[in-house]
Amino acid sequence: MVSTIILLVSILVSSVTASQPLLSLPHARPHIPYTDEPDASVSVFHQTTQQQISSYGETFYFDQLIDHDNPSLGTFKQRYWHNYEFYDPGGTIVLLTPGEINAEGFTSYLTNTTITGMIAQATNGATIVLEHRFFGKSNPYPDLSVKSLRVHTIEQAINDLEYFAKNVHLPMPGGDAVSPGKAPWILVGGSYSGALVSFTMHSKPGLFYAGYASSAVIQAIGHFWKYYEPIREYMPKNCSADVEAVIAHIDAVLDTGNATAIHDVKAVFGLEDIVHDDDFGSALATILGSWQDGDITTRSDAFYDFCDALEVDNGKSAPASGWGLNHTLQAWGQLWKDTYYPATCGTFNAEDCFGTHDPNKSWWNNVTLSDDRSWTWMTCNQFGFFQVGADSGTQPVLVSRHYTAASAERNCLYDFPGAFKGSRRLSILNALGVNTRYGGWNVTTDRLIFANGHRDPWREATVAASGAVFSPTELQPHLVSDGFHCSDLLGSEAASSHVKAVQDAALDYMKKWYAEWKPSEST
Ligand SMILES: *[C@@H]1O[C@H](CO)[C@@H](O)[C@H](O)[C@H]1NC(C)=O
Ligand SMILES: *[C@@H]1O[C@H](CO)[C@@H](O)[C@H](O)[C@H]1NC(C)=O
Ligand SMILES: *[C@@H]1O[C@H](CO)[C@@H](O)[C@H](O)[C@H]1NC(C)=O
Ligand SMILES: *[C@@H]1O[C@H](CO)[C@@H](O)[C@H](O)[C@H]1NC(C)=O
Ligand SMILES: *[C@@H]1O[C@H](CO)[C@@H](O)[C@H](O)[C@H]1NC(C)=O
Ligand SMILES: *[C@@H]1O[C@H](CO)[C@@H](O)[C@H](O)[C@H]1NC(C)=O
Ligand SMILES: *[C@@H]1O[C@H](CO)[C@@H](O)[C@H](O)[C@H]1NC(C)=O
Repeated sequence: MVSTIILLVSILVSSVTASQPLLSLPHARPHIPYTDEPDASVSVFHQTTQQQISSYGETFYFDQLIDHDNPSLGTFKQRYWHNYEFYDPGGTIVLLTPGEINAEGFTSYLTNTTITGMIAQATNGATIVLEHRFFGKSNPYPDLSVKSLRVHTIEQAINDLEYFAKNVHLPMPGGDAVSPGKAPWILVGGSYSGALVSFTMHSKPGLFYAGYASSAVIQAIGHFWKYYEPIREYMPKNCSADVEAVIAHIDAVLDTGNATAIHDVKAVFGLEDIVHDDDFGSALATILGSWQDGDITTRSDAFYDFCDALEVDNGKSAPASGWGLNHTLQAWGQLWKDTYYPATCGTFNAEDCFGTHDPNKSWWNNVTLSDDRSWTWMTCNQFGFFQVGADSGTQPVLVSRHYTAASAERNCLYDFPGAFKGSRRLSILNALGVNTRYGGWNVTTDRLIFANGHRDPWREATVAASGAVFSPTELQPHLVSDGFHCSDLLGSEAASSHVKAVQDAALDYMKKWYAEWKPSEST
């Protein structure tokens, strides 16, 4: 997972010309972690027969329906990757979609270096990595116009999983006789695709025999300011104290409406040209998204560099109470002027770089395929999950309250002209619709494992949220570690004994359930 700043630089270099400046900042998307791919040139041998089988790197294509509500519209090519080194007849079919990202590069999820392969190994299973519609190269249409995006919904994605499971002929011996009912299918996902596991099992009972949902953001939340709460809780204390003090000060200045004072506080960061206060608040929040890049073995360098810049003065670190407002405001401002601004905006002025109030400017056109535009559509159309400032209350925060959900909703209107009218532009209502349809935190379904990490910034949308009323059972266990986002998907994260315990417990459940499985159809 690239740091936001690096991402911004690469976007700047790749797509921005002098006449078309950067327009807004992407905040952290929730996708599952990358891990080193297995070498595609290495031969793979079947564990029982010792026969050589296709390599992990081979891409397969499935003819998926463009619109499950109207099959007459035809099909598109949906990409998948497959491995059956651990498969024996009667074994499981373990399916993962990486969700909102190009699935190329995720073939480690075919192997036992990840939870999918570990489950397969424990249950004589085969693994599949399926690219989600509208990401990577699995696109129903050649563009991302509002008209095409009509079939980019959670519902269609769930129907994709069903249609795939029922119709795919897997490229392995007997691979045309493993549909659900004949073989136990296990659905695995993390983050958004973790939520899909829960949503699919809730709305299609019996299709998938078991599921593993890591950091699953199953409760859609329109104004998701609590994204920043686990960060505030677990970041170095001096750094949180000082960031809170600076944001409280900035918000107090913005609240006065005094144009001179507002100009002056923006100027500390070299951001005095930003016209609107929400854009200023949004710019300052960007660095916080890098917390998510952390994992147990390698913390997020970008995030800790930020704290070091604020908290280390002449080789000495601040005590837990921090250095206080004056020092931190200057140190943070200097960091922007010296590093963040040039990396993010290059030679553009701050309004061109961060301004989002011009309806004629959008990050994207409607033609070029872009995973970011595609995910933004899902947030605008259904999830919300806008990582904005707190909408109420007086508790200390890391993000300006002037950066509001209305800012994010306005971006949706400008990015997708004509798509959102009336109540469809209200993210709170959209999120309510998702929760009503798929149960949110109240989901009850058999043989579904939830796995979460305390330090995950998406925690408050999972069953580990402080507000969730979730009662785990033996058929719907909740396994929690000290991990970050989706840490438990990776074998390498077993360096943490807490993550290892989650993985071991999950494998025990899967083995037990697999032993209890009985086919409902003959093969
Ligand atoms: C993982 O799978 C490989 C074969 O791909 C095997 O050689 C290795 O022993 C397995 N690892 C474990 C821990 O079982
Ligand atoms: C794409 O955007 C352009 C410019 O806003 C617009 O004229 C065109 O109709 C859009 N195309 C589609 C298919 O929506
Ligand atoms: C506005 O802020 C400036 C700079 O801080 C200050 O000098 C001025 O007195 C303020 N104006 C009002 C009306 O408070
Ligand atoms: C203070 O900040 C430094 C530098 O970021 C960090 O290494 C240290 O752990 C922090 N100490 C406390 C008590 O928060
Ligand atoms: C903060 O800086 C202001 C202006 O430079 C100064 O008046 C004030 O005394 C400082 N406060 C602290 C606590 O150092
Ligand atoms: C946006 O474009 C329309 C049509 O070209 C124009 O009428 C309008 O003034 C523009 N708005 C802004 C804020 O530039
Ligand atoms: C979940 O259950 C709680 C308590 O019964 C209820 O208030 C809430 O509306 C339910 N949420 C959904 C999405 O059904």
